Amino acid sequence: MKIKTITICGGGNAAHAMIPIIRNHFSGKLNLFLPFGDEANHFQKLIDEKGFLTATIGGSKLYGRPDRVSKFAKEICKEADLILMPLPAFAHEQTLLQIGSSLKEEAIIGAIPARSGFEYAALKILKDNHKEKVKIFGMQTLPWACRIKEYAASVNILGKKKWVGMAAFPHKITFELTSFLSRVLDLKIESLPNMLTLTLANVGQIIHPGIMYGLFKGKEQATYQKETIPLFYQGVTKEIAKTLKAMSDEILVLTEKIKALDKNVNLDHVLALKDWLIYSYESSIADKSSLQSCFVTNSAYQGLCAPMKKINNDYFLPDFQARYLTEDVPFGLIVIKSIAQLVAVETPVIDEIILTISQWMGKEYIRGGFLEGKDIKDTRIPQNYGIKHLEEIIIY
Ligand code: NAI
Repeated sequence: MKIKTITICGGGNAAHAMIPIIRNHFSGKLNLFLPFGDEANHFQKLIDEKGFLTATIGGSKLYGRPDRVSKFAKEICKEADLILMPLPAFAHEQTLLQIGSSLKEEAIIGAIPARSGFEYAALKILKDNHKEKVKIFGMQTLPWACRIKEYAASVNILGKKKWVGMAAFPHKITFELTSFLSRVLDLKIESLPNMLTLTLANVGQIIHPGIMYGLFKGKEQATYQKETIPLFYQGVTKEIAKTLKAMSDEILVLTEKIKALDKNVNLDHVLALKDWLIYSYESSIADKSSLQSCFVTNSAYQGLCAPMKKINNDYFLPDFQARYLTEDVPFGLIVIKSIAQLVAVETPVIDEIILTISQWMGKEYIRGGFLEGKDIKDTRIPQNYGIKHLEEIIIY
């Protein structure tokens, strides 16, 4: 695998974290594709003033800058051997459409994190651009918790996961790619057997909508002062933990059904939520006895509050347009629901959460029990990409 040029897409928190990390572990060219608004000019101007971007991780600092920044795919993607998309899932498709025709024949392109159903959109767009040789991959989660401190200047990496799962298509490139990415991202990456595992083991789709539902169902109009905003992860009550477990159990039942329908498919990495938390955050969880305690005593989650929007100087309302919902419902739970319908598995708890949260978001995904609401076209269900059978999903 010869990777001489890497292009990162987007200029958010994750892209900021990646630039200095990769720069310190990769000697080839590192470029930045910023098609969104005026980001490219803005980033270029600021990085030229500062000279480099600083990432603070633990007590140490890493420095780096991209070699080139551009808003034009033709300029920045045509020489890339590897394209990384550390983007919110709702930006994947737009980005793929922008770069599709400019990709090298043998390029590799991946979403970090993939969220659910990434492969359906990516492979359809690549096929439409006659780029069938382009390979794709996705990671199960973003490896870091990170926040931009100053745009194009500094980023805080608040935590790093012990390991991250990664799947690729075609599968044969997985091990070599895992080894390359482990080195340039300075990370432990576990190879996953297929892209379907990424969809079923996408824990964000359980945690984010599940906790939002638990915290705000029946309290949609409640107002909060700054000091009374509920903690998000550490605000998980016994009742919320019960809902999260029920969602996780429904996905495990779906997983077992798929395994029963196809004895060759390997879905061993789809874990129960509690097992995933313990596996990923082992050393930061003080009390591993229950699902609730895994959230409440997890130091990686310390102090993180529920997403709120300010209504005036003193008061806040829950933010139902937050990424925890706009990303994890249409690019998460809805995809699970669509696969469950394909194989006739019922998901009553997930359905109730989708229905409630869709109303909060002003969206309609489910109508009359089916995924036929007016906004279903904006989700990543396989049917939107012409995929109607389980066999087509398992192929990836
Ligand atoms: P972000 O919100 O900082 O990313 C914003 C960037 O995405 C923008 O600067 C722009 O470059 C691009 N973008 C946004 N909307 C776009 C659109 N419609 N079209 C094209 N580009 C667009 O996101 P962040 O924090 O970097 O997260 C990236 C991914 O990682 C998300 O899936 C997020 O859920 C996940 N994640 C992030 C964590 C964090 O600590 N930042 C932790 C865990 C997961």
